[in-house]
Amino acid sequence: MVSVRVTVLSGAGMSAESGIETFRDAVTGLWERFDLDELASPQTWRRQPNVVWAWCLWRYHLVNSVEPNAGHKAIADWQRRADVRVVTQNIDNLHERAGSAWVAHLHGSLFEFHCSRCGVEYHGELADIPEPVEAVDPPVCACGGTIRPGVVWFGEAMPDEPWQQAVAAVALADVLIVVGTSGIVYPAAGLPSAALTQGIPVVEVNPDVTPLSDSATVAVHDTAARALPGLLERLDELIG
Ligand code: OAD
Repeated sequence: MVSVRVTVLSGAGMSAESGIETFRDAVTGLWERFDLDELASPQTWRRQPNVVWAWCLWRYHLVNSVEPNAGHKAIADWQRRADVRVVTQNIDNLHERAGSAWVAHLHGSLFEFHCSRCGVEYHGELADIPEPVEAVDPPVCACGGTIRPGVVWFGEAMPDEPWQQAVAAVALADVLIVVGTSGIVYPAAGLPSAALTQGIPVVEVNPDVTPLSDSATVAVHDTAARALPGLLERLDELIG
């Protein structure tokens, strides 16, 4: 029997019920004087690497201290009956920790580090900061460069490989499920319309109305943790 091919496009709302604030709510506490696009930028990294590194370490610590929610677990569970590919804009690892085997990170990962000068991967120690602190010096590479997280900062190019994987995963899908993204950051936001153009149904899961809601085949206005368990069983009824 050929199993249904499901591609998921997830955004920050996917992890909200795990306790990770959505991207646009994420600059709080010690860093609230910064705009997100200023804090997560190559310019601020060059000027104040210790501030950016402290923020990244805090996010890293936060993600490690939370658990995948019922939505992440449902998507991983679908693998028993479907060919599931997850394309995520999230830099956390909650899809993987829930058990999803195929995950493409369009905006990189908070769990991979490399030297900002020579590019070599870093697998060394990371400062343990149970409470947020304002500034922490990043580790230094043998070449003298500073170690940075493998995430895409504002103004930086997206890595090509996950993007190519995402385009292919959408093209071969029987259905695209778009969860917890505001649908305003391109090119990821273009994937649902690419699916629709190819005749692939798009199911949106988001408690709010987004720019995608009108054109989606079905818009389920509910949260990820509530809507995703049971969604695969309802697909035929939803998309006909
Ligand atoms: P946003 O923070 O822009 O949007 C989060 C979306 O999740 C909103 O549409 C919310 O309505 C929805 N949402 C909130 N709670 C939810 C829940 N429990 N279940 C389902 N949906 C929920 O996050 P993204 O769309 O992921 O890029 O942002 C896209 C990109 O913008 C990020 O990857 C980041 C940022 O700039 C880079 O860092 C390059």
